[in-house]
Amino acid sequence: MTDMKKSGSEKLWGGRFTEGTASSVEAFTASIHYDSRLYSYDIAGSKAHAAMLADNGMLTRKELTLIVDGLSQIEQEIARGTFVFRPELEDIHMNIEKTLIERIGPAGARLHSGRSRNDQVALDFKLYLRDQCDQIIDLLDGIRRAFVELGRKYLGNLMPGYTHMQRAQPVQIAHHMLAYYEMFGRDCERMIDCRKRINYSPLGSAALAGSGLPIDREQVAQALDFDGVTANSMDSAGDRDFAIEFTSNCTMIQLHLSRLSEELVYWSSQEFDFVTLSDKFCTGSSIMPQKKNPDIPELIRGKSGRVVGSLMTLITLVKGLPLTYNRDLQEDKEPVFDAVDTVSASLTIMTELLADLSFNTKRMDEATQTGCITATDLADYLVLQNVPFRDAHGIVGRAVAYCLNKQCELGDLSVQELAQFSPVITKDVFEVLSVEGSVNSRISTGGTAIQRVEEALLSAEKQLGMR
Ligand code: ARG
Repeated sequence: MTDMKKSGSEKLWGGRFTEGTASSVEAFTASIHYDSRLYSYDIAGSKAHAAMLADNGMLTRKELTLIVDGLSQIEQEIARGTFVFRPELEDIHMNIEKTLIERIGPAGARLHSGRSRNDQVALDFKLYLRDQCDQIIDLLDGIRRAFVELGRKYLGNLMPGYTHMQRAQPVQIAHHMLAYYEMFGRDCERMIDCRKRINYSPLGSAALAGSGLPIDREQVAQALDFDGVTANSMDSAGDRDFAIEFTSNCTMIQLHLSRLSEELVYWSSQEFDFVTLSDKFCTGSSIMPQKKNPDIPELIRGKSGRVVGSLMTLITLVKGLPLTYNRDLQEDKEPVFDAVDTVSASLTIMTELLADLSFNTKRMDEATQTGCITATDLADYLVLQNVPFRDAHGIVGRAVAYCLNKQCELGDLSVQELAQFSPVITKDVFEVLSVEGSVNSRISTGGTAIQRVEEALLSAEKQLGMR
């Protein structure tokens, strides 16, 4: 049997109710156990709103002082952990407002003039996400710096570049690092862009239709550092595009981290042995004493599922929702909070791990010496001698088959042997068959030649204020 409270009167919305809320309903509808995270934003929003009400004759100066002081006190108590949250008051907004009213009386009861929880929660969420954008942008700068530092440290060292996980063409290790610098750079731009769209205040849209009271939305927006106010009250009450966009950006970041993690996992295997992760960032096995496992990258890779899941939750939540606010929207916060926590922690620890990462350059260099890795260079050589590329491809393919049969590399063949495949091949061919020569021939914009990579490093260092 569900037990009933005697009346709804202790609720801020209890007036029209004759029966109390079932405790099962209170438990089911409460969000305070997670939305308490928004407390400082809720209080900042309420203070700005109260100041506007006072400026427009809806609160006396004395009432404003009572409200602002009361809210500050509540904020301190929440920060200290001494504030008692009441689940029967549903959410952070009503926990704060009800406590304020209990403490300061009628002034507190005037605070909610000209707003609704619908625009209030949208405001709090936007203020919170604006801060999260800034923090994630900082973390992205940090990880980008780590790639630039690795690139600088290993400038001149080579490794095989892969397609289909097969050795393809030799590249600079720094070039590989700067690929991630670019990927996380796009993530940064996406966050900056997302923040711009977040930064319009919904407050004053009230329940959905706007307010009949003489409120000044622009004043509140300005006080809270918004770029302006949203244009349509109905849109503002039900808009969660910004949360989806933010979580989609988080998903992209986690995908990038996951791809990097995957590389670190196999690079650190005995089969590859390209990198050594420092002991600080590895764990052992409870049964196999010799094991040193790359758990950090594995966990980051695994946590992609959580972030993708959060994005799916939000998309599914909004699909098919009629305008404007619907209670479904209360389900928007947990996935966003989880995405924030996961991406922030993953970026932080990956940045620490990279700072301690060492590349086994000898081993990587050896890996560039096999697999006829300069075959494309030989084809390009033929093209420069006026052989059509498709013919050149066939010629080199036959030379590679010859090497496979002889169990040697293209560079091990004599000029005479090479010339069997095409008469235009002369002894200068050995310049392009060397791994160094191959790398440094790739001078096209964005290529892996040493001077291109050096330029890219310099520009990255400037961009990040490292020089
Ligand atoms: N806790 C609610 C949420 O997060 C606040 C808004 C409630 N609005 C309402 N009309 N019930 O969405």
